[in-house]
Amino acid sequence: MNKPTLSTSWWACALSGSVNDKKPLAVVCNGEALVLFRNAAGEAFALEDRCPHRRDPLSLGTVKPGGLQCGYHGWTFDGASGACSAIPNLRDTERVPPRYGARAYPVAEANGFVHVGLGASRPTEALPSAGYRPRGKEFTGAATVNMAHAEYLAAMLDGPDCLLAFDGVRMTDFFLGDPRPEGQHLVLDRGAVWKSQVLPSNFVVDYPLMVRTAVALAGGAVQVDLLDADESPVVTVLMGASPNRRGTTSLCWRGFWHGTALPGAPLRWRSARALGKPPFEVFAEIKGAGIAALLVAPSRELEAARAAFAFSVPVSAAA
Ligand code: FES
Repeated sequence: MNKPTLSTSWWACALSGSVNDKKPLAVVCNGEALVLFRNAAGEAFALEDRCPHRRDPLSLGTVKPGGLQCGYHGWTFDGASGACSAIPNLRDTERVPPRYGARAYPVAEANGFVHVGLGASRPTEALPSAGYRPRGKEFTGAATVNMAHAEYLAAMLDGPDCLLAFDGVRMTDFFLGDPRPEGQHLVLDRGAVWKSQVLPSNFVVDYPLMVRTAVALAGGAVQVDLLDADESPVVTVLMGASPNRRGTTSLCWRGFWHGTALPGAPLRWRSARALGKPPFEVFAEIKGAGIAALLVAPSRELEAARAAFAFSVPVSAAA
């Protein structure tokens, strides 16, 4: 069962480029239906996707100078506060009742992601994309996968090759150490080789590549890095992942090449790079047989680490 968490967290729930001042965007983030939009100045807002008048989805409405106008009876709601700012056809003697309003959520935008703060107060932890510093051309995408969020995060540690791929790279089953807490993440390294390489038979080997998976301890972001043997980053992918409805997970991601020289890379890798092709793929379709066959190993530590982190974060004043 996809059970949303109740803690207060920032969630990277959309790519900045998918939110505009023309058409509202409906998203489900941590199980909550939201509508995202911008004003003419480019400021992003998030409201509950539910009109307080007759419960119509606000995402079916229209962005207006005063906020988001419901498509049913035309009430307009301010993006920052959610307050109803206009009702059509009011008589001169009538006013907009001050208690009418849609629920508004804190929004923070950084490094190409729109983050929404869910919970009873404004989140105090750093934004999931705070450390993402793209250089050069980025590759972006979004999908809804048929896998529950908690299982998706667990599989990122137990078998990331079931969820995404780096071009020409085979991730191995060999963990390079145990999962370790680093700041707001649980981090695990595993050895990787070029697909064209034969994997050495001995257990302790100096892998030419490494895949580092960092799963956020709050919210749902995951960063996956492909590193060379000296641990210099080659490709970085940052993903926002959040519980959607009925056991599914919403994903949005950005990633880029670092420009690291890789003398041992196969020709195909270098050709793809020269052509500007994405160096990675996030799977929109996940094979159940591969997930079912995964050993539950590093992810055993994830649930406890997330719970411990939730208790350690101070609660701020209400947003
Ligand atoms: S349902 Fe939204 S204005 Fe009536």
